[in-house]
Parts: sequence; C-alpha cells; structure tokens
Amino acid sequence: MCGIVGYIGSRPVLPVLLDGLARLEYRGYDSAGIAFILRGQIRICKKKGRLAQLEQALAAADLAGEPIRVGIGHTRWATHGAPSDENSHPHLSANGRIAVVHNGIIENYIDLKRYLCAQGCCFHSETDTEVVAHLVDLHYERDCPGDLMAAVCLTLAELEGSYALGVLCADQPDRFIAARKDSPLVIGLGEDGHFIASDIPALLGQTRRVLIMEDREVAVIERQRVQLFDALGRPVCREPLQVQWDSTAAEKGGYKHFMMKEIFEEPRAVRDTLTRHIRRGALDLPAIGWPRPVRQVCIVACGTAYHAGMVAKIVIEQLCRVPVVVDIASEFRYRDPILDDETMVIIISQSGETLDTLAAMREARSRGGHILAVVNVVGSSIAREAAAVLFTAAGPEIAVASTKAYSTQLAALYLLAFSLAQRLNRMTAAEVGEKIDALLAVPAMIDSVLASQAEIQRFAAAHFNAHSIFFMGRGLDYALAMEASLKLKEISYIHSEAYAGGELKHGTIALIEPGTLVICPLTQPALLDKMISNIREVKARGALILGILTPSCRKAADVCDAVFMLPDVPPLLAPLVAVTPTQLFAYYMSLNKGLDVDKPRNLAKSVTVE
Ligand code: M6R
Repeated sequence: MCGIVGYIGSRPVLPVLLDGLARLEYRGYDSAGIAFILRGQIRICKKKGRLAQLEQALAAADLAGEPIRVGIGHTRWATHGAPSDENSHPHLSANGRIAVVHNGIIENYIDLKRYLCAQGCCFHSETDTEVVAHLVDLHYERDCPGDLMAAVCLTLAELEGSYALGVLCADQPDRFIAARKDSPLVIGLGEDGHFIASDIPALLGQTRRVLIMEDREVAVIERQRVQLFDALGRPVCREPLQVQWDSTAAEKGGYKHFMMKEIFEEPRAVRDTLTRHIRRGALDLPAIGWPRPVRQVCIVACGTAYHAGMVAKIVIEQLCRVPVVVDIASEFRYRDPILDDETMVIIISQSGETLDTLAAMREARSRGGHILAVVNVVGSSIAREAAAVLFTAAGPEIAVASTKAYSTQLAALYLLAFSLAQRLNRMTAAEVGEKIDALLAVPAMIDSVLASQAEIQRFAAAHFNAHSIFFMGRGLDYALAMEASLKLKEISYIHSEAYAGGELKHGTIALIEPGTLVICPLTQPALLDKMISNIREVKARGALILGILTPSCRKAADVCDAVFMLPDVPPLLAPLVAVTPTQLFAYYMSLNKGLDVDKPRNLAKSVTVE
C-alpha cells in the first residue's frame, strides 16, 4: 500500500526522503514522488515505476547543494486512477502553494471534486487525493490566511474515509503538517530534525524514538519541535516509544531476498515468541480477559493470518471443546455476526494495520465480544485498540509474502489454546507443561528442515514451469495446505488451489491431468488411511505426488512420487514445522521464474484499504 515519508531538519532532505521511501518499498507500490520547498516555491518530482526512476529524475534536476530543508515523499499503490506520473503523489493545489501526500481513500471525493470545480479548480489527476490539496489551499486563502494548521483542520472536517496525510505549504518552509484517520502514521524524533513515516521500519535509518499518531490527531512538525493535537484541537502530550528493533533487523543481512532471510529467522522468532510467554516451564501470558463462561471463540483475520486462525480453530476445539468460528475479516464485518459477551474474539494480524481486520475488531467490540489481538507490530492500530494483546516476536517482516509472522502466530495461538484448556480444566498444569516442552523442541526441528533446503530447491527446479499446482490435506494438513497454496500463488504467479482430501472428487478432480503436481502434507496419522485413498484417486488421473511426511506417516511414502521427510513433530504441532518446506518451495519456484520474490506484482505488504 501507499507509503509516506516527511522530513524537516538540518540534513540534506532528498537523501533522507529517498532512504525512507526505499525502506517503504516492501509495502508494494507502482509510482513514487517527492515535494520540497526551494527558495519559497514547492518543487515536485514524481515518476511512474520504481524508485530508481524517481532517483534518475532527481539526479537530472541537479539539486545537490541546494538549500532544501523540508520535504514530503510518497510511494503509491494505485486505487483511483492507473499508475502514471500524473496520478503519482504529491499532488499540488492549482497555484502550486500546497502539496499533499496521502495514504487511504477519500470516499466523498466525487462530491468534493464537483464543489471544487464549481469554485474554478482544475484537476490534473484521476486520484481522490487531489481534492485535499485544493481544499487546503481554498481554506488557507479564504478562511484562515497564514494558518496552515487551521486550513488543514477545516479540510479534515470535510473528508470522509481514511487518510494519513503530509501537507506542505510554500509560504511555510519552517513546518509541515501530518494527520491521520484509519491509516497509520508515525512521527520520528531526531537529533537534527523530525520525520513522519507510514511505519516504523521506514524510520529505522534515522531514529528509534517514535511518537505513534492516534486517529484524528494532527501534528505540526518543525525542525526543533513537534506539536500534537487531538480532534478537538487540544494539545496532546505523549511519551515517545523507544523502538527496540535495530535497523539491521530490517535489512537483508547477506541473504538475496528478505523472504529467505525471514524463513531462516523462523527458529529464532518462534523461540522468542514462546520464551516471552513461558516462565519456568509454565504459561506466563498477559491478562487475556477471557469471558465467563467462554461460549464460543471467534477468530478474525485476513490472508496468511486467517490461515493461522484455521489451525487455531482445530487446536482449540480439540483441546478445549469450545466451538470456534474462523472468519475472513472483510466478510465478518458485513455479515451481521452473532456474538455476545460470552464470545472471545481473537484478532490476528502481523502488521496490526490491515484495514478490514481493524474494522472487524471494532465491529466485534461494538457487539460485546471480548477482544484479544495476536499482533507483531508494537504500537500498531490493532495493538493499541485491542483490550488485550499477545505479541509475536517475529521482528520486522519486510517480504510481502508472510513467513516468520505465520510461524510466530501459530506459536502464540498454541500457547493461547493451552491456556484456555487449563482454564476450562481440560488440561492439568502438568499436561500443559508437557505440551510446552514439545513446543520448545520445535525451533530445533525447523532448523533441521532448513538444513535440508537443497532438496526443496531441486524439486522446485524440476517443476517451476507447472501451470497449476494443487495442495491436498486433511485436518491440520488442510489448514496448512491453504497457507502453502497462498504462498505459491502470491510469489510464483502459478495457479494453485488447496483442497481438503475428501473434497476434490466433488468437482475439482476434473482439473487433474497427467503430470499435474499435487503436494500433500501428511502429518496426521489418524487421517492417514483416508489421505492415502485420496492420493490414489488423483494418482489414478495421472497426478504426481510430493508428500511432506512425518516419520509416523511414513507408510504414505509408497503412494508418493517424491518425499520430503520432516522431523518427528507431534501431530498437533505439525503445522509449525511442515510450513517451512512449503515456504521454501514457493521461494524457489519464484526465483526459478526470475520474479521479484519480495515484491510480487499487484500486492502490498500492509493492506490499509478495503
Ligand atoms: O498484516 P496482516 O497479518 O493483517 O496481513 C494480512 C494479509 O494481508 C497477509 O497475511 C497477506 O495475506 C500476506 N501477503 C500473505 O503472505
């Protein structure tokens, strides 16, 4: 999704903005631009395509040595209007006095545009954002000459939808304005100036002292001070957050791609997530606020986080005997869900900023649900609004394809399931202790999978030209198959579907042809005979089978054409270990096809629009 940066200070502005934009690249974008003030005028440079195009255009403008002390920048992920130079941000008011960068969607922009056209404004882009530049300028000229902050606040009162905004005014080279509603924005406090950015990793090259803006807050950013105001214009005093991640955590560290680095971080990330919540062999979770009684659990998330929820459903139902519903956030929020104050709602999100998930959480809260969020990013919107939070310890995840975040979400969800089971007297403290011991053995098992990555690499080299790949499993293996299939699709662009073993023959088996690759996680001994039958069904139509097996499912090797052997992980915990070879497979498929592994087409890391 779009990314925003801004800086005012004594350092050369353009390199600071470009560094921030480069750190936002992972979010996904199709154009980039910056605006800055030079000798009392706003100058803009914006280009469709990668940041390199923008850098070339800036180099051609020969600005080195110019006294530029303030600027804002943007990476755009197109929503309103195709990727083009014109639609790129920043957008200017008609007289060139106001420049705006925006993340989010202005839902009433057509009405506002009609009004502004009637006032004589001409539009140069198809975007919703351009109305903001014209509106700020209109108010600045007509209602509050010389008061940029007031002009921005009058504008915000007219906007419907979501926004994170950076606003620059040619008359006011000593400040710029930042504002947010339902789109993330953070302020970085530096020694020699101050920054804004869409997320914390974008600031890590500059500072680790961060102020997280709350919804409807507005900030005036100056070289030597930052003033924060609430929706009513009252000053807000907030302690800055000292970010623990260091900048190297958001760098590739010798790996070719962030995705590979992040897969190799899984053992560390899972171990840290577990040890953060375990003391002397027992659970040590933050106050969860379980309802009494727990009538149902409702899990809400998107994408990979939703797939982690599918695993959690099976584990919680099995251990706790409480019904669990898993919902896609964008469906949940509009389907009139049934919940009450005996419902525990578990919200799962790596970024903590996914708009649908955030909105679903608010919906669940308004219906009386008890909210617990499993989140990776400290200070994110979901983390701040949830009644209780269980943090994962993945560290910054930069690759669009989520890997270590999924593993750590699972780790946290297992701990939650054990905690609920103990609370409901379904497990004794001793039984929970045994399960914890088993969980603590998992990071070493992931290490051993990583040590065998060459097997997966060879397998991907033989199959990267496939047109369509199926994943098939039962129970936890089906939940895992869903995630494996998503990973493959998003970075290799190969059509893929995940099916429950018993379901293929109800229609989809028609797609199996001689040579079609079907990948089967086989980690559930209780379901193995059924799976072997399902494998025989697709083999009879010519399918090639790769089995990802635990030793207790070894007998299925006879029906597989190729086998990847997992360590001896207990069936209940198997997704934590079995996911890694599927991620490696997706990675190598993408690499073999020469694709952009970390920044796949059409995708954004943090999906902050509906
Ligand atoms: O930040 P979130 O966990 O809320 O993100 C949810 C999905 O957008 C995310 O998992 C997405 O599906 C990933 N690209 C999958 O790899």
